[in-house]
Amino acid sequence: MIHARIAGTGGYLPGEAVTNDDLVKRGIDTSDEWIASRTGIRARHFAPPGVTASGLALAAARRAIEAAGCEAGDIDLLIVATSTPDYIFPSTATLVQAGLGIRNGGAAFDVQAVCCGFVYGLAVAEKFIASGSHRRALVIGAEVFSRILDWSDRGTCVLFGDGAGAVVLEASSTPGVRAVALHADGGHHAILCVPGGVADGKVTGDPFLRMDGQAVFKFAVKALGDVAQEVADLAGAPRASIDWLVPHQANIRIIQATARRLGLPMDKVVTTVERHGNTSAASVPLALDCAVRDGRIRAGQRVVIEGVGGGFTWGAALIDF
Ligand code: ACO
Repeated sequence: MIHARIAGTGGYLPGEAVTNDDLVKRGIDTSDEWIASRTGIRARHFAPPGVTASGLALAAARRAIEAAGCEAGDIDLLIVATSTPDYIFPSTATLVQAGLGIRNGGAAFDVQAVCCGFVYGLAVAEKFIASGSHRRALVIGAEVFSRILDWSDRGTCVLFGDGAGAVVLEASSTPGVRAVALHADGGHHAILCVPGGVADGKVTGDPFLRMDGQAVFKFAVKALGDVAQEVADLAGAPRASIDWLVPHQANIRIIQATARRLGLPMDKVVTTVERHGNTSAASVPLALDCAVRDGRIRAGQRVVIEGVGGGFTWGAALIDF
């Protein structure tokens, strides 16, 4: 049987950290106390003008490839999860492929599942590898959410940041990704959306992120708690065998409520939301990369990653490192 294992991780955050106080200085009617007490967020990063999702993705990808000890040319599947692509088309994945200098390569495509996009992308890559059709996948979450924020809506603009995270997933005879669960319920599409598009050379509808914060909060806590338990059950993994939970980094209160539902102490939960804000599809691989590089996540450990995002979409994976 062919398994898929994580061989390397990478992350990239653009520019300097922008603190809550910096947002106040930029004229947003908010405070560090309001943002930090409700969300746990203290800072985030914003891509400078001209820097796009593919640029962030490329930087994270190079670090993941280096950590995996392989060459860009060894990648035969490239998936980018993003809701803020450079273009309508071509896909951000093909732009990253070109940036890595891969010519005449394997499949490259984008996945759109908003904040759960990386978990969706990893699940797709795991299936490709387990089928034997591909040997080495690069899965990236990359976002420039700063470009779709309405800066006059203080209820949303303080929550998000830009960044990218990546993993190299390799075929192996040893189990790595042990279980995956993905879900969606389009009935909730209106509580978190960017309800606009482009047609006839014009923006149609509303091109900014809109959110019913309280509805999202309730949905996220239940979905994240349920799906983490689901992958543990699918893998036959007792809760005590889970070394780390790496959840989507939207809000520390959502993360704490999820950990409580799972009976996991917070010292087993990786959090970056205080420094990164919500980077949507980039949040899980960025947090994973932070915990790998600072030595918390080590070979032989068991990790559950999970995400929830607009759509609604939600999912989790149980991974042995
Ligand atoms: N600074 C100061 N005051 C603010 C701000 C702000 N940035 N934003 C809103 N307020 C005010 C409102 O105007 C309102 O004032 P009022 O009572 O005078 O009318 C008051 O704060 C309360 O507003 P609510 O929107 O009801 O605030 P709530 O307590 O629900 O907190 C929040 C809002 C933090 C967004 C919360 O609902 C939440 O955490 N939701 C989860 C959403 C989330 O994390 N989304 C991330 C994206 S989704 C995902 O990734 C899956």
